Amino acid sequence: MSTTSPRRILVTSALPYANGAIHLGHLLEYIQTDIWVRFQKSRGQHCYYVCADDAHGTAIMLRAEQEGISPEALIERVSDDHQADFARFGVAFDNYHSTHSDENRYYSELIYQRLRDKGHIATREIEQMFDPQKGLFLADRFIKGTCPKCGADDQYGDNCEKCGATYTPAELINPVSAISGATPEVRSSMHYFFKLPDFAEFLQRWINDDHVQPQIRNKLMEWFESGFNEWDISRDAPYFGFEIPDAPGKYFYVWLDAPIGYLASFKNLCEREGIDFDSFWQPSSDAEVYHFIGKDIVYFHALFWPAMLQGADLRTPTAVNCHGFLTVDGAKMSKSRGTFIKAATYADYLNPEYLRYYFAAKLTSKVDDLDLNLDDFAARVNSDLVGKVVNIASRCAGFVKKLGDGRLSAHCSEPQMVARFIAAGEGIAEDFEAREFSRAMRSIMELADEANTYIADKEPWVLAKQQGRDAEVLEICSVGINLFRQLMIYLAPVVPAMAEQARVFLNVDTLDWESRHDLLVDHDINKFKPLMQRIERDKIDAMIDASKEDLVEEAKLKQAPQGPLAETPIAPEISFEDFAKVDLRIARIAKAQYVEGADKLLQLTLDLGGETRNVFSGIRSAYAPEALEGRLTVMVANLAPRKMRFGLSEGMVLASANDDGIYLLSPDSGAEPGQRVT
Ligand code: 2FM
Ligand code: ZN
Repeated sequence: MSTTSPRRILVTSALPYANGAIHLGHLLEYIQTDIWVRFQKSRGQHCYYVCADDAHGTAIMLRAEQEGISPEALIERVSDDHQADFARFGVAFDNYHSTHSDENRYYSELIYQRLRDKGHIATREIEQMFDPQKGLFLADRFIKGTCPKCGADDQYGDNCEKCGATYTPAELINPVSAISGATPEVRSSMHYFFKLPDFAEFLQRWINDDHVQPQIRNKLMEWFESGFNEWDISRDAPYFGFEIPDAPGKYFYVWLDAPIGYLASFKNLCEREGIDFDSFWQPSSDAEVYHFIGKDIVYFHALFWPAMLQGADLRTPTAVNCHGFLTVDGAKMSKSRGTFIKAATYADYLNPEYLRYYFAAKLTSKVDDLDLNLDDFAARVNSDLVGKVVNIASRCAGFVKKLGDGRLSAHCSEPQMVARFIAAGEGIAEDFEAREFSRAMRSIMELADEANTYIADKEPWVLAKQQGRDAEVLEICSVGINLFRQLMIYLAPVVPAMAEQARVFLNVDTLDWESRHDLLVDHDINKFKPLMQRIERDKIDAMIDASKEDLVEEAKLKQAPQGPLAETPIAPEISFEDFAKVDLRIARIAKAQYVEGADKLLQLTLDLGGETRNVFSGIRSAYAPEALEGRLTVMVANLAPRKMRFGLSEGMVLASANDDGIYLLSPDSGAEPGQRVT
């Protein structure tokens, strides 16, 4: 047993915005962090992992308004969804909080007041675009117009997607508010700024002191050379956030209180569990603080955040650990290709631990992007976890049951080999510590290969058929089970659910790192159950199909009227010829039925008076199939057929939707199937 006292470690992952679902891109970070935290806990460190929903800002305010609910109701619902997703992927926070919390208001005000009292806050009037219809200042991404350089229409307020030009919203030709369609006006208002340049010297030292990876340090030095600006930390009402204490009508910008959310979530945990918060956050603290983030938010975490903490007399992070982006099959995640995969959609089809292992097998301490190649994913998991690791236990368990009545042999016949497996734990631990998970997985799989070779060479299945060799077979398989146990100790931070099943099978109290020193001899094990199934390619394909359906559902939601016309502006004008292209027909619902595996769809057989059409429609939540049969409705008859996982959809029925339900259109009585609707 080690005699040094445990390290005290606080770990965070970036706080997800409270207006969207968790997807695989997010999960790369949460899984990376969770593996590191589980490893620290396995080593006996006092490690706490906290997170929260990032609940403030204009986007969340507008989304709630669009849905016709309060921002509080929106963030509560999204938080529940996020936490359910994290739980399915084994991401085990010690606390999950919200930036819209009392603790966060307290620390945001405290940090702001300390910065202000030391002269690090400036105020001045700035000019900004204002939407007179919504009564709202508009961030650049909420303004659209014609590019002043190339004349392309419908470009955002800060850059043109067509020609790549950058400009200010004031330079756009015919600018409109993307929220209301109104023409924005330039208005001025007082803003509050954090004087980042005050911290230039401190930051220069800080980023050269091993708190960030070398690639990040280089990037930061480039920014350094181009000089820092003061950071605008205020937004005008209406804004969903915290009002600045001495500035009525001004709110903290979401990015000011987001990282403070790390403190707030930890404070909430400390209060609940009696942990000494101050001993973690006072300037001289010997505790460690690590933030895991993506490379897109380095500026906030490696410049603003340490400067804010320093200015407010709090300790700065031990390190900011940055990872790259996730690509799928070599490309950016794409909604139309079905590779923009939500956590929940993935988990409906595939075991989350496959993904945890695959990410671990590819993650390094660097900032490179990581590709989820779906063929490689299946091959890697099947070959490593199923083919190598589980195989050891499944080859040995039966003989232990049969020849030892479930009891391992009383002495270990391969002490040197087992000792080598135990000793390998040191190097593997160093790799986990350094976030070189890929190297750790390689070492573990090399050990698994050795264990399999040992069993293959000994051929216990051949010996078992020979007279008088039962004791030898039991010894070989007992060695195999001991080797399997070592591997599961090393893999437990990566595949915790599989490790828990292995722990029950092995009949041991723990698989923590230290426990690898105890040999299992003369020890009862439990009945073996398969610990992991192979990945079948059709499950992956079904997940991709389902992700495409998610896109269709989202599009429908966006089309559904959500409040008064002003909030859902009428689409741009079309000509009569455009309209005439849409062939609308009266249809009789001849048959309606549930679709297995699709909780939103009904399958409709539509009678058009001379032919029938098969249509899948997302109306299941509102109609029982039998209530629809015989009813008349209106369909788009010349819509290009769409191939779905369940079959071909040959058209679309017309319906409207709001929060309360879905409303299928019906003609007055007398209309006949097949008649054109004009
Ligand atoms: O980029 C994002 O998704 C932000 N919501 C991350 C915030 S991390 C921290 F600062 F709160
Ligand atoms: Zn342009």
